[in-house]
Amino acid sequence: MTASSTEFFSDVTSAAILVVDDEEPVRHLLVNVLKPAGYRLFEAGSAEEAETMLSRVAPDVIVLDVNLPGQSGHHFLRLLRADPATKLLPVIMLTGRPTWADRLSAIDEGVTDFLSKPFSPDELLVRIRSLVRMKRYTDALEDAENVIVALARTVDARDPYTQRHSERVAHYGGLLAVAVGLEGTDLTAIRRGGLFHDIGKIAVRDAVLLKPGRLTAEEFDEVKRHPAEGRQLLQGMRSLAYALDVVTYHHERLDGSGYPEGLRGETIPLTARVITIADIYDALTTPRPYRGALSRDDALREMAAEVKRGWWDPRLFREFCALIENEPSS
Ligand SMILES: [Fe+2]
Ligand SMILES: [Fe+2]
Repeated sequence: MTASSTEFFSDVTSAAILVVDDEEPVRHLLVNVLKPAGYRLFEAGSAEEAETMLSRVAPDVIVLDVNLPGQSGHHFLRLLRADPATKLLPVIMLTGRPTWADRLSAIDEGVTDFLSKPFSPDELLVRIRSLVRMKRYTDALEDAENVIVALARTVDARDPYTQRHSERVAHYGGLLAVAVGLEGTDLTAIRRGGLFHDIGKIAVRDAVLLKPGRLTAEEFDEVKRHPAEGRQLLQGMRSLAYALDVVTYHHERLDGSGYPEGLRGETIPLTARVITIADIYDALTTPRPYRGALSRDDALREMAAEVKRGWWDPRLFREFCALIENEPSS
C-alpha cells in the first residue's frame, strides 16, 4: 500500500455506522463492539426512525435488522436503493436464521453483506472494516467525477455565449436516447458524456474560444483539437470510460466530413450521434457573437437541410423533432 492510500484509509475507524434494530440488547451489543474500535455509532429502533435520521446523518455503513416493527428491513433497503444519495451505501443485514428465499430477496434488493445472529465480535469488526473501505472507494470515484463535472461547467462559463450549454446538451441527449430506446450504460454515456463533451476546450486559448469574428484556419485547427484533448483528459479515469466515445466523436458527420477522424455512417458510435444532434440544436438556438438565437422551427429547418446534405443521422433527427415539439419552449 502506498503512503497516500494508507493515509486515505487511516480514518476508516472514524466512520459513521447506523444500527437499525428494534431490540435494544442487540443494538447495545453492536455499539459495545464497534464504539471501542473508534466508530461513531447512531441507533434507530425502526425503519421510520432511521429514515428521519438520514436527513441529518450520512452513515458510511448501515447495519439493518430484517424484522422491524412497522416497515420491514426489506422495505427500508428498497427505499435506500431507490434514492441516488444512498444507492451505493453498504448495508449489512442482520438475520436470525434466514430462509433461502429471504436471502435471495435481500440480494435482489441490493444488500451488501449478511451477518447472522448470534455473531462474533471479531467477525462483525472485520466485515464492517471492509465495508467502510468499499464506501471510501465509491466516495473517491464519485469525487473524481464531480471534479470533472465542475470542470465541464467551468469550460461553459468561460464563454458567455455557451453558459450551461453542456447541461442542456446532456438534457436533450438524454431525452433523445430514451426516445430511441437506449438504456443502461448507453444512456449513462449520453447523459454524462453530454456534460463532458466539450471539456477539451479547456485547452483552447481564450483569444480563440472567445474571438467574436471569423476564425483563421490555424485558429479553427486549434478548436478542432478539443475532442482529442477531452479524450486525453478523461481516458485515465476508468469510471468515465463510458463517456469517451461521446467526447471523441461528437463532431463527426455521417458523410465523413467531420472531425477528428472523418468517420462515416454507423462507424460513428450511436451515443456520439445522439449527442451531436443535441449539440447542434443547442448551438443553433442560443445566440452567438455573429448571429442571434434561431427559433425552434428555424433551427430544425436548418438541421433538416444538414441531414439532407448527409451530415446528421436522419432517424435520430426525426425522433428529435417529434420530442422537441413537446418540450416547453424556452
Ligand atoms: Fe464540441
Ligand atoms: Fe458542444
